[in-house]
Order: sequence, then structure tokens, then C-alpha cells
Amino acid sequence: MSLKGKKIVLAVTGSIAAYKTPHLVRLLIKAGAEVQVLVTDAAKSFVSPLALTTVSKNPVHGSISDGDTWNNHVALGLWADAMIIAPCSANTLAKLAHGLCDNLVCAVYLSARCPIFIAPAMDEDMWKHPSTAANISTILGYGNHLIPVTHGELASGLVGEGRMAEPEDIVQHLGFFFSVNKPLQGVHALVTAGPTYELLDPVRFIGNFSTGKMGIAVAEALAQSGAEVTLVLGPSTERAVHGNIKTIHVTSADEMYTATTEAFKQAEIAVLAAAVADYKPAEQAADKIKKKESTLSLELVKTKDILAGLGKIKQPGQTLIGFALETNNELAYAAKKLVEKNADMIVMNSLKDEGAGFGHDTNKITLLKPGKEPVSLPLQSKADAAAAIVGHIVELRCAL
Ligand code: CTP
Repeated sequence: MSLKGKKIVLAVTGSIAAYKTPHLVRLLIKAGAEVQVLVTDAAKSFVSPLALTTVSKNPVHGSISDGDTWNNHVALGLWADAMIIAPCSANTLAKLAHGLCDNLVCAVYLSARCPIFIAPAMDEDMWKHPSTAANISTILGYGNHLIPVTHGELASGLVGEGRMAEPEDIVQHLGFFFSVNKPLQGVHALVTAGPTYELLDPVRFIGNFSTGKMGIAVAEALAQSGAEVTLVLGPSTERAVHGNIKTIHVTSADEMYTATTEAFKQAEIAVLAAAVADYKPAEQAADKIKKKESTLSLELVKTKDILAGLGKIKQPGQTLIGFALETNNELAYAAKKLVEKNADMIVMNSLKDEGAGFGHDTNKITLLKPGKEPVSLPLQSKADAAAAIVGHIVELRCAL
């Protein structure tokens, strides 16, 4: 696992798992990284700054000012290609979730622009407390990456969940993130995202609450895997940033149908994450509809189902993925869409799950594939959910 040339800030906080961090520093350096270590005051009770200075070959930073020296937290945040907070205590986790800034670790975290990986460590009861769960959900919503706790012997003597991931696993996690192995290099991918607006008249429309965040996260994850991505985006204030993504802006379901069907001719992968209107007004008034009677009836007609349309023309070698946002009988409805739309995978999310669906920065998804047991993933950031979806797409393509 190579981290060659990567600059990593490792922040160590007050948990017994801190005793493993000199080993973690060694592994990071062995993988090719340059490491700067930050410690909180509490961390110093569990690991010696001298040990961390020795293995990292850099002075350990403990406070915003060390005597006469000003530790520029903004410079540290900008220097880093990644920040790892390991172990992340329950206290630091709560501070990160709420934007507190009473030490150097929090200041660097708040000013860092790089990806941030958080490896919590705490006793099982603390880990299972609803406030910890809420804090995890909040920090994931900010786009941070979670390196999950493991099950095993805890400092309290109890056995349960809450152990920090082993240093080897933390390094592997980063290695995968920075992997130069781009499994979709040169592959053409198509993604739809966002809502559609169906105009009633020049000033009104029928729409939905989709923000486009999930579809854009999928487009970004595909681009990071090397794919050339065409993103067909409905009306959304969100934007894709990766240089491999070409965005086509559309407004209505009809426009999305035309742009998507055209782009599908060149695509080897299509992920339809848009929340497309199922019905549109039978007629669009040329002028603003004036208020007259006490009731107003609108005649609506079905829009074309883009996913089902692509399912009909799909060729061998093309992988087609749909989404299903459900509120009840989730698995049964999603399984029906998988078959009826001839998709290779359906990404199902339920509005019943807290933190899932429109508007959130997190999502909880279940993946359905023909002839396979559904795979349910935990609540995670939309970026991590998108990376998991792309991992499954790569797996599907290996089986072609
Ligand atoms: N979809 C589409 N074109 C439409 C409607 C939906 O391409 N006109 C796609 C969505 O992008 C998604 C999948 O079909 O990938 C399922 O969308 P969803 O709204 O969950 O289901 P519908 O097929 O619209 O069925 P229903 O609204 O009855 O659940």
C-alpha cells in the first residue's frame, strides 16, 4: 500500500489507544508518507511526545503557541494531503461535531481543506451513547471519513465495540483512498442527478426536494476512479468539481431524457440518481395562469421513464444502475424496479432512515443486484456511500 509523497497530519487525542500511534507513524512513513504529529494535552498522558518526535522525525505540535513559536494551524492544514485523527476520543469527537476550537487539533481540523479521516476509540457504552451516534452522523455529514471502530478487548476490561482500528488498517484505509490504481481509467460513465422541474406556466413548476448531492458524489467517485463522466444535472445549486466531469444542465424530465439517451450511446456505465418527475402538465400555459375559481384542476401526463428506456436498449458491456427512494415496502419495491427496468443494480434508500434521502449530507443505502442477497451499508457521508457504489460497479464489471 503506497502513500508515496503524501503529507499527513496525524492528530492524537486522549485515549489509551494513543499508545499505538508511534507504530502508526512508523507504518505511514514506511508507506512513503511525510508525517507531522499533533497532540492534545490529554494525549500526552498516554503517549510520549518524545517518542512521536523521534519516529516522525518532526517536532510534535502541542499548542497553538509553543513558547515563542506560533504554530500556524492554517499552514498545517494547507500543508496536509490528509489529516488523520487517531485515536479520536469521545470528547474530541463532540468538539469536532460542534466546531469548538480550544486546542491546536481542533484549529487544524477546522482550517484543513484536505480529506479528514477519523478513527474513534472509546469504551463500548460511550460508543453506543446516542450523543456519540449523533456526533458521528454530524461529522460524516461534513464530508469526513470514518475509520470504523472494531470489536474486542477494551481498556475497561470489557469486551465490545469501541476499539480504535489497528494501525495497519488505518494505513490501508488511506492507501485505498489515494490508490493510484484507477479501475475505471478511460471508461465512459453517465450520471443523472438532481430534480426536474415541469413548467405549468412561465413562473411555476412541479418539482421535488432533490438537491443532486448524491448523484454528484457518484459522479465525483467515478471520476476519481479514472472514468470520463458526463453528468446530466437537473436544476440544482450544487456543482461537480472534478476535471473529468462534463456537466450538461437540464430542467425538465423531457430534456433529461433527450440528453441522457444521447450520452448513453457512448457510456459503458450509467448511474441514474436523478429524482425525475413521473408526471408533467399536459399543457404548459404560455402566460401566467390567473387566479379565478376557488379550485383549479391540472391535467398531468406521464413522463418517459429514462431508466426503463435505457434498460430496453442496453447492450452487452453496458452497466446500468438505478436508484429507488422509498417510504414503505422498500425492499419489495426496489426489487421490482430492478427487474422491471432491467438494471444491473438498484441503490435503495428509505426516507424512514434518519440521515438518508434528500438534502442530507449522509445516506444509508442498500444495494440490490439480480440473484444476490441485498447488501445494507451503514449511515455514512454521501462521498463514502458513492465510493462504495463505485466499488460495487467495478465488481459488476469484473464479472462481465
Ligand atoms: N427514473 C427515470 N425516469 C423517470 C422516473 C424515474 O429515469 N421518469 C429513474 C430514477 O432516476 C431512478 C429510478 O428510475 O433511478 C427509480 O425512480 P423512483 O422515483 O424511485 O421510481 P419510479 O420508477 O418513478 O416509481 P415510483 O415513483 O412509483 O416509486
